[in-house]
Amino acid sequence: MHPTAASTPPGVPVVLVTGASSGVGLAAALELARRGRRLALLARGAGPLERAAEQCRSLGSPSVTVLPTDVRDDDAVARAVAEVLRREGRLDGVVNCAGVVAYGRLEELPASLFDAVVETNLLGSAHVLRHVLPHLRSQRRGSVVLVGSMIGHIAVPTMSAYTVSKWGVRALARQALVENRDSADCTCPTSRCPASTRRSTVRPGMPAAPPVSHLPSCGRPGRRGGSSPTSSSTRVRSPTPAPSTA
Ligand SMILES: NC(=O)c1ccc[n+]([C@@H]2O[C@H](COP(=O)([O-])OP(=O)(O)OC[C@H]3O[C@@H](n4cnc5c(N)ncnc54)[C@H](OP(=O)(O)O)[C@@H]3O)[C@@H](O)[C@H]2O)c1
Repeated sequence: MHPTAASTPPGVPVVLVTGASSGVGLAAALELARRGRRLALLARGAGPLERAAEQCRSLGSPSVTVLPTDVRDDDAVARAVAEVLRREGRLDGVVNCAGVVAYGRLEELPASLFDAVVETNLLGSAHVLRHVLPHLRSQRRGSVVLVGSMIGHIAVPTMSAYTVSKWGVRALARQALVENRDSADCTCPTSRCPASTRRSTVRPGMPAAPPVSHLPSCGRPGRRGGSSPTSSSTRVRSPTPAPSTA
């Protein structure tokens, strides 16, 4: 039986990682496990998620919840967040990495694939925010990281859907920042927002895990060489120092 809130220290932060079975999300989950965080891992495929969970437990995470969920389904995301709160009794941070890519000029990419990319990367991010923000605001602490891309700042031939989705993710992070500007310690719009919200953009180098994104329904595209992921982060801060997710 997997450990639950009843068998783990109540003070240990709980972090939800989406896209946790591969690439950036898996790397984030493993690092959080090394730091002793309790984890909730979300992706569609249960098998790879279970394998990721085993790795996290072996690295020291005291509790790992596996949530096979499609972020394109708003109701399913709501159920997943509710399940984390039911099992763990708290949620302190979210790292939203679930993402896909499809290649093709705008007029060549089938509408279904274009839509799948936008629904996963942009609408999926909105679904996650929609269901975690009320909880983080109510407790006045916590962090949300939306993994964007350098391509959220530029346009790239044959990556129309991905480009649109990542510009959208950046806009979504900004919107969340503006809507949460109601805390007391907002001193800088780019690094400390809402009375209780912080937004920042970071540009890490290539992830340690294999940097391959894929959209299973359209075949595995080539590696996106050379692009560095960026993250748009919205943090809901507590009057007292919040537990870090990193
Ligand atoms: N790798 C890079 O070089 C790079 C550069 C810039 C930005 N990024 C961004 O980093 C994030 C992760 O990229 P990656 O390269 O690590 O991708 P990846 O290795 O292909 O992993 C994608 C993860 O998202 C999950 N996922 C895909 N569709 C989902 C859905 N509808 N619902 C829930 N989970 C879903 C996948 O699991 P399932 O398929 O089982 O659902 C998997 O766990 C993406 O947002 C990507 O845009 C990556």
